[in-house]
Amino acid sequence: MTTEATNSKFKQRVFSGIQPSGGLTLGNYLGAIRRFVDMQEGGIETIYCMVDLHAITVWQDPAALRHQTRELAAGYLAAGLDPKKSILFNQSQVPEHAQLGWVFNCIARLGWMNRMTQFKDKAGKNAEKASLGLYAYPSLMAADILLYHATHVPVGEDQKQHVELTRDIAAKFNHDYGVDFFPMSEPVIEGAATRVMSLRDGSKKMSKSDPSDASRINMTDDADTIAKKIRKAKTDPEALPSELDGLKDRPEARNLVNIYAALAGISPQAVLDQHGGQQFSAFKPALVDLAVDHLAPISTEMARLMQHSDEIDAILRDGAARARAIASPILQQTYDIIGMLR
Ligand code: TYM
Repeated sequence: MTTEATNSKFKQRVFSGIQPSGGLTLGNYLGAIRRFVDMQEGGIETIYCMVDLHAITVWQDPAALRHQTRELAAGYLAAGLDPKKSILFNQSQVPEHAQLGWVFNCIARLGWMNRMTQFKDKAGKNAEKASLGLYAYPSLMAADILLYHATHVPVGEDQKQHVELTRDIAAKFNHDYGVDFFPMSEPVIEGAATRVMSLRDGSKKMSKSDPSDASRINMTDDADTIAKKIRKAKTDPEALPSELDGLKDRPEARNLVNIYAALAGISPQAVLDQHGGQQFSAFKPALVDLAVDHLAPISTEMARLMQHSDEIDAILRDGAARARAIASPILQQTYDIIGMLR
């Protein structure tokens, strides 16, 4: 059956999540949150989660985890997510995620998990010492998505493999039980910044876990810090080309052009139309202005919201109740399909 035929019976619904496992980066913002906000305005139901159960697949200090979960919520709100338009909640308040995750642990195959590149990257050479949760991580992520019968999943490039696995799990469940119950969720990977790279090394993804703070812009960085990091960003001695082809073997230059494009809401070619021929000594200050104009108000608003953590907690509790109202019947139907007694 084609994806369209399978999905036609499902209401369009957007689901995505971010781990509260450290501070938010510009990569999270441009690759995910900004696009969450765009989709919120698209007339489709939108559900955005703080995936705290995923975060603990790697040890987290409990007080830090609570702080980071609130800070992530503050980031969602400061960037423009509106709890009246979107459901915002943290995963552990909706126990159905873990329950459906267990069912999917029994659907997913070891061979599928062994192909997951994020597990290999995160577990590193010492996979024997990685938690079982880290290994099963993608199956819980499939549960996050399918618990809402989500049809669209906005993510950065690095999550594509996990969303494809989600489709494999849905297809195997539907096949094994002879039902058409779970949709084939589509990854939505769009825009100029689906893979924002490190400011220190254009071959590495910008990441909250990079030991070098200079490699990333944090959403909590103030204007001076943002300016300093962009000014120090690694580049090459050439001027910017006027055509995209000229960026092919220049990962650092390409990254800064993509960041500019995503922040300005224009295409990378439009950036080159405006700045082609310029040296980085001219382009970087333009990027600093754009980044500071865009990001400083968000970090200021995050800091303000963090002074009102009781309000954040209330928003998340309300979001969890609304999420549960959707998730609970879908879990119940899943249990009925697989033969659990009520
Ligand atoms: P996480 O927390 O690593 O990242 C959250 C989102 O940010 C995107 N992202 C980036 N995009 C562009 N450039 C970058 N450098 C960059 N770094 C991160 C990620 O692609 C992601 O969209 N497994 C997920 C969390 C998750 C989830 C889900 C996502 C759990 N359940 C269900 C969608 C649906 C993760 O670790 O994202």
